[in-house]
This record gives sequence, C-alpha cells and structure tokens, in this order.
Amino acid sequence: MMKNFAGAAALFGLPLHKISAEPNQLPPESLFGTNPDSYWDRLRSDQFLMPNVRAFLNTGSLGVTPRPVFNAVVNYLEKAAELNVEALQVEQYPRWGYEALDEERLAIAEFIGCHKDELAITHNATEAMSIIAGGMPLPRGTEVLLTDQEHPSGTGPWKLREIKGELKTRTVNLPLPPKSPEQLVDIIISAIGPKTRVLSFSGIMSPTGLLMPIREICDAARERGVITVVDGAHMTGQVPVKIDDMHCDYFAGSPHKWLFSPAGSGVLYISESRLDEHYPVIATAGWDDKAMKAGRFMRFGTNNRAIIEGFMAGLEFAKSIGPDRIYQRIHELALETFNRARELPYVTMLTPEDDRMFGSLVTFRINLPEQQLALLWQRCTERRIWTTGDQQLRVSTHIHTRYSDLDLFFETLREVAG
Ligand SMILES: Cc1ncc(COP(=O)(O)O)c(C=O)c1O
Repeated sequence: MMKNFAGAAALFGLPLHKISAEPNQLPPESLFGTNPDSYWDRLRSDQFLMPNVRAFLNTGSLGVTPRPVFNAVVNYLEKAAELNVEALQVEQYPRWGYEALDEERLAIAEFIGCHKDELAITHNATEAMSIIAGGMPLPRGTEVLLTDQEHPSGTGPWKLREIKGELKTRTVNLPLPPKSPEQLVDIIISAIGPKTRVLSFSGIMSPTGLLMPIREICDAARERGVITVVDGAHMTGQVPVKIDDMHCDYFAGSPHKWLFSPAGSGVLYISESRLDEHYPVIATAGWDDKAMKAGRFMRFGTNNRAIIEGFMAGLEFAKSIGPDRIYQRIHELALETFNRARELPYVTMLTPEDDRMFGSLVTFRINLPEQQLALLWQRCTERRIWTTGDQQLRVSTHIHTRYSDLDLFFETLREVAG
C-alpha cells in the first residue's frame, strides 16, 4: 500500500511530504544471476509508478519517469516551496537559469564522456539543436548537409536560417534499410560538396532507429574541413554514449527519452575549439562572458531547478543498475522485437538487419489495409499498449519492457492481420 501512496498522493493532491526521499532498493544481485527476467520484473514493479497493465513501448518519444526521479523532483519542489534552504543546501532560493551548476554538469559530463566546460544543460534536444544552428557563425552561401531521416528539430533550426537567406541546406537520401555502416559513411561523405561547411545528422535516426557510424563520418568530414553536428536525442541512455569518442564538434541530447530524466531535460555539447566563436541565442547576464565556457549557453533566465534534481537522480539510477547491463537488456529486447517482426509476411523491416546498426528502437512497415491498421491502433489503446507510428511502426524497448509486453503487442498484430 505504502509503495503506491506517493503516486496517488501526487495525483490526488494529498500531502506530498509523505513521499520518501529514499530510493527503493534494487533487486538483489543474486536474482540477476539466477533469474534475470525476474530481476527486471521486480525492478519494474519496485522502481516505476506505471501500473502492471501498461505495455509502454514508446520511450523513443518520451521515457517513463522512474520512482527515484519522481521523488527527487517532488521533494525538491516541496523543499523549495518551504524555502527550506538548509535541506536544499543552498544560500538563496535556487534558480536554474542563472547558475553554473558545475557539480551537476561534471556528473553528466562524466557519464556521457566529455568535459564539463563543453557541456550545457538545456530543456531538450530541440533547444540544443536551436542553439547549435542558430549560434554558429557561418559565411553567407554556406551549405549545410542534412539527411532525409532527420527529426524536424534537426532540420527546423537550419531551415529557419535558410529562409533568412543566411545559408542553404541540402539533403542526402539514405537507403532504407542500409546494408552496412561502411555504405552509410560512403554515401554521406561523397555527398559533401565544395560549399558544404556543416554536416548535421542524427546519431540514431528517429524514424528507423538506425544507429550511424558516427566517428567514421565525423573523422572523414573533419578531413574535408566540414563541421559535424550530431543530433543525439536518442543516444543518451539508449546506447553507451561517449561524446569524446565520436569526434563531433557539436552534440544535442534528450536524456528525458532513454536516460530516466524528467521531461524537460536536455544536453548541449560544444567542443572547446568552437566555444569562443559560438553565439548564444538567448541572452541575459553572462551571455558574452567567454570564461564561462559552455556555461554561457545555459543562461536562460529563471527555470525549474527541480528538473535538474530529477536529472541527477536519473543518472544515479542508471549508474546503480549499470549502463552496460541496461544496454545488454534493452538491446536483447530490441533483437527479439526485430526477429518477431521479421517473421511476419505483411511486414517490411526498416531497421537494418545488422545489429551493429541499431540500439533499442526497431521500425517496420505494416503492409495491411487502412481499416486493419485502424483496428490495430484501437486494439492497442484498449489493451494499453503504447507505441508510435502509423503504417510505419516504431517499437522502443527499455528496462521496464517485459517479454510479455512484446507477446501482447505481436499477438494483437497477428490477430488484427487475421
Ligand atoms: C532525432 C531527434 N531529434 C530531436 C528530437 C526532439 O527531442 P525533444 O523533443 O526532446 O526536443 C527528437 C524527438 O523525438 C528526435 O527523435
């Protein structure tokens, strides 16, 4: 009973001080050794607030908040409302938006493999991409190369500058699905033209889950004098990301998808060599203080500091389970999804077969008439299966995903297909 009280309290406006700040313990290690599926089942019921009946297969849009993250946000809000500066360990009312947050940035930077001074905390990847594209000094006539699998947040910020006459964009089409990482490097790099100054692409493609050979692309682009921007909205938390290993100049991330952060968490990376020349797109005190390094790109004005606390709790949660263990599990579930989908005669796989080229997002086209597709969505809603797409359907698998969730989804699909 007590376990569910916190969620109920928040939903129904009951006194929040009843919510424990202590995280629930993870299941015992011995259980992982003897019965990994039970370990993950137990972890789901202890660490997530969502009810047992939900099959949540849409982390790619927004992750579901785990209990320790929820608790951290709520506790912080409560302490802030009490002006309890002792508990918050601050001297004044905390306001993300004017603060350096060095400790927090250090923790994030260590996790995602970059230097704290090259990292700013944003609200999401859209904002990070907007700061990257909006603030990059570029000579007029510059060409920015994009791919045809970008999310609107990866193209919009460039197109905005294009309509102002500041640059031109060009799009390179990727094969669907591609054959190999080498083929992708070849297609992208050979598309670089004499005016191409920037290459902006997703590390994991939103529509297909395709994991790009980022380092190879960035190295080859750099040899040609091209600046690289990686839209890594799906990377942080889905694959073991180390930004320094990617050799990109800029990176945008959305840890509220795969890294357990509360909605409204983002990261922006700008390599040291580009920091000084980059312009902020939002300006308040400190906007021109280059000594602040990447910190001057997170001067937004007053913000909800509780989100940062949740972000930190999400990082701790991931670390306590272990990023490698998480990846192994969620990729194993994605492989299972891939294999089950591939067997169906009315399905065309859009995620590549080579599993070096996807993490935990699997996309396929369902070649069924519209009426049957509508019925599929209706049945999914009735059975509380959450996924995304239409004819092109994308399944996300995370640590709360159970094999029974996949059973339910594929049974529903088979039933509708008849
Ligand atoms: C590749 C990519 N970039 C950017 C975004 C935007 O992310 P956010 O809504 O967190 O800003 C998404 C969201 O799905 C995405 O898939």
